[in-house]
Amino acid sequence: MDVEKFIEPSSTYHMLGGDDPYSYAQNSEYQKQLVVSAEELIYKLIDKHLDIEKPSFDPNNIFRIGDFGCSIGPNTFFAVENIIKSVENKYKSNIKNPRIPEYHVFFNDHVDNDFNALFRNIPITRKYFPAGVPGSFHGRLFPNATLHFVHCSTALHWLSRIPKEVTETNSTAFNKGRIHYTGAKKEVKEAYSTQYRKDIKSFLSARAQELVPGGLMALVILGFPVGVLTSESSIGIGFNILGSCLEDMVRMNFSEQFTYVID
Ligand SMILES: C[S@@+](CC[C@H](N)C(=O)[O-])C[C@H]1O[C@@H](n2cnc3c(N)ncnc32)[C@H](O)[C@@H]1O
Repeated sequence: MDVEKFIEPSSTYHMLGGDDPYSYAQNSEYQKQLVVSAEELIYKLIDKHLDIEKPSFDPNNIFRIGDFGCSIGPNTFFAVENIIKSVENKYKSNIKNPRIPEYHVFFNDHVDNDFNALFRNIPITRKYFPAGVPGSFHGRLFPNATLHFVHCSTALHWLSRIPKEVTETNSTAFNKGRIHYTGAKKEVKEAYSTQYRKDIKSFLSARAQELVPGGLMALVILGFPVGVLTSESSIGIGFNILGSCLEDMVRMNFSEQFTYVID
């Protein structure tokens, strides 16, 4: 099979590696809370919907889990442990099929993710065989019907690219160098929304092929209740503050990496 055609050019932005005070590992309590808040739901999802009687549940008794956009831990380890605990519970309570599978866990993130830090930090008490899978989750990363459970937490809000229109000065969707659509005009929001639709579609169609029939997927995605504006949310306010700091840094010439036009 020609896998190349599924590989999208991925951006190289990734979380800060290592274990120092500025690393993602030391600064991801917010994301951890989201993993924790999904624990119970995932347990119930597996208990109710995982059909381990299906032939796709490996005759060799291997259960494969993929965590997409895993970063460097530790949150991915909590999520995986919870999935395994829930699957184990499901197998143990199955009178027809009480055996416990072996687990193969695939940790996916961008190629520039600090996979060494990830592997260093995997708990020694783990009950699974770990593997790293580098590459963009907007394309195919696994052969057909490989995974029994797909997990992705606080990663799907990352777009594969900045919509071109928001960076073009002559476009009606020009976002004046800002990093986000909080409080922006309709055209800017539409440009982001169109990009998001494309990205989520490619994520879902890739996973649809990679999941075994009867496999399950849990996606933890940031969202807002209907009627709440991003500009009223803590995230929206946070992005505005962050964006304004970045704009100041560009003006002060602190970074040559920023290519946005600032007016
Ligand atoms: C906020 S972190 C969340 C990490 C982890 N899931 C957690 O809950 O702590 C988002 C992660 O998604 C990864 N990511 C973003 N876009 C990606 C893509 N297209 N393919 C793979 N990983 C991606 C980033 O590199 C980053 O590590």
